[in-house]
Amino acid sequence: MTENNSFDTYWPKIDAVPGWMSPGQEKCLFDLVCTLNQQARILELGSFLGRSTVTMAFACHKTRRHIYAVDTFEGNDDDFISGRNEVYWQGNSFLETFKDHLRRDDLLQYVTALQGWTHEIAKHWTMQVDMIFIDAGHTYEAVLQDVDNYFKFVKPGGVVALHDVTPSWPGVERVWQEVVALRLENIGNKGSLYYGRKK
Ligand SMILES: C[S@@+](CC[C@H](N)C(=O)[O-])C[C@H]1O[C@@H](n2cnc3c(N)ncnc32)[C@H](O)[C@@H]1O
Repeated sequence: MTENNSFDTYWPKIDAVPGWMSPGQEKCLFDLVCTLNQQARILELGSFLGRSTVTMAFACHKTRRHIYAVDTFEGNDDDFISGRNEVYWQGNSFLETFKDHLRRDDLLQYVTALQGWTHEIAKHWTMQVDMIFIDAGHTYEAVLQDVDNYFKFVKPGGVVALHDVTPSWPGVERVWQEVVALRLENIGNKGSLYYGRKK
């Protein structure tokens, strides 16, 4: 079985994790990770309960690829507050739930959870990455800050992916159009999941 057609086997397990990807986006994300080298380093900004993380971790199965998953695991102060935008979680932190979603499929070995604000983690971040997936704060300022802080760490030819590039999230769409897309080639999308390779 090749990496790519194993997605169908993993799908029920991915689909059991709550999250906000729309149909086909998990497969797209999985396929992007499968294009990376076997030692690839992946940075995820915004993991929530782990739907995208679990998706990418399945594409790390039996490789030395590794995902660094950054999230406050407590929401944020503007667009990601429990009770707003149909966002709900139990208790103050969803970090343990996130880890449980990875543990139950033996995927925690492929993931390091980094709890904190993306801009705080950025102050100490030094590693070059083969792929970045940006899905944390969705305001214009938040997305721009994440791009400013982390784009430089993506290797030339590396994958840059943004979620929620849609008029429903005008800040994300504006950063994609004005800043990110200009620096990429081989651009594609699946719904609001846009991606390309760093020039
Ligand atoms: C849309 S959700 C991520 C969804 C996730 N990728 C999935 O597949 O379900 C956004 C997440 O980013 C986190 N977040 C928002 N702004 C953040 C920031 N500035 N720093 C760290 N995490 C942040 C929130 O806590 C939330 O879990």
